[in-house]
Amino acid sequence: MELISNPTSDEIKKAAKALKDGHLVAFPTETVYGLGADATNEKAVSRIYSVKGRPTDHPLIVHISSINQLDKWAVDIPEYARKLASRFWPGPMTLILKRSEVAKDFITGGQDLVGLRVPSHPIANRLLNEFETLGGIGISAPSANRFGSVSPTSVDDVVVEIGRFVMPSDLILGSGNCSVGIESTIIKCSNNAIEVLRPGAVTRSMIRKTIKLEINKNLNHNLTKTSGQFQSHYAPRAKVIIGNFAAKNDGFIAPMSVTTPTGALRLFAPKTVEEYAQGLYRALRLGDEKKLKQIVVSLPQGSGLAEAIRDRLRKAASVEIDNE
Ligand code: TXA
Ligand code: MG
Repeated sequence: MELISNPTSDEIKKAAKALKDGHLVAFPTETVYGLGADATNEKAVSRIYSVKGRPTDHPLIVHISSINQLDKWAVDIPEYARKLASRFWPGPMTLILKRSEVAKDFITGGQDLVGLRVPSHPIANRLLNEFETLGGIGISAPSANRFGSVSPTSVDDVVVEIGRFVMPSDLILGSGNCSVGIESTIIKCSNNAIEVLRPGAVTRSMIRKTIKLEINKNLNHNLTKTSGQFQSHYAPRAKVIIGNFAAKNDGFIAPMSVTTPTGALRLFAPKTVEEYAQGLYRALRLGDEKKLKQIVVSLPQGSGLAEAIRDRLRKAASVEIDNE
């Protein structure tokens, strides 16, 4: 595996070529780092599953360069979904739509739906454009972590997660820390229901304001596999406990306004919800680096991004998720 930090234009071209040749390229996005493969190359995509240790019936998000690629991958697109795409792309939002015939079973997990996203990170964007110049049409990229683990938000975290599992011909592009820090909002857009399958930085109120439609309560998820809906996801090795009371030698993550219980080890004291989201996964990893047995986290209050943080933390702690 070759690690390229702050790639030049030529290095991004080289990475696009590597993707086209069937290799894997990990790259930064504004949410978390992704592990990319040519979304039309079954063999390359199957390597994503083996590097991640992820079950193969689990669908992957296809990253595209712009809204202009939407109709290549999806059909029967509701008008409100186009509105969302033009308002929030490039950005931290994934739309789940009815697939076109280019979205094969090995991308969708055999479902008739495809997940699409236009990332805003300049390196992701340039990589996608170069890839399309070479005739590519989309890069499938899940978060670049082992299945069930915490998503990487820095290139060092990518190396720790998957460095041992990739091949010498694969590449990792690095560029500082991700600005959002948690995965994209996933919105399932059908003609009769709008569901937020995974909350994120594109919040419910932003969605409602844009499309002036009500968001439905989530329907039956047995039919729509979303990895966050597995028990114990986004989890560090340490046990995650939700609350405000930590014992001696426990890690402690809480908004700045919450004081650290005596004897606990403060891992993170974010001042805002944006800062909480951005640094959350690094803080959980720090607990593992310090070999802590237990990390206590105090949930942020309120709606919007706070909802997304609570969602990830409840999954990390394997507690029942209510439909907020
Ligand atoms: O922010 C993000 O979305 C990051 C960056 C790299 O773009 N990607 C990411 O991918 O979080 P991943 O695979 O770790 O999570 C994507 C989620 C999965 O839970 C997957 O099941 C769901 O999106 N998904 C993808 N395609 C789907 C589909 N066709 N139907 C239902 N869920 C889908
Ligand atoms: Mg993931």
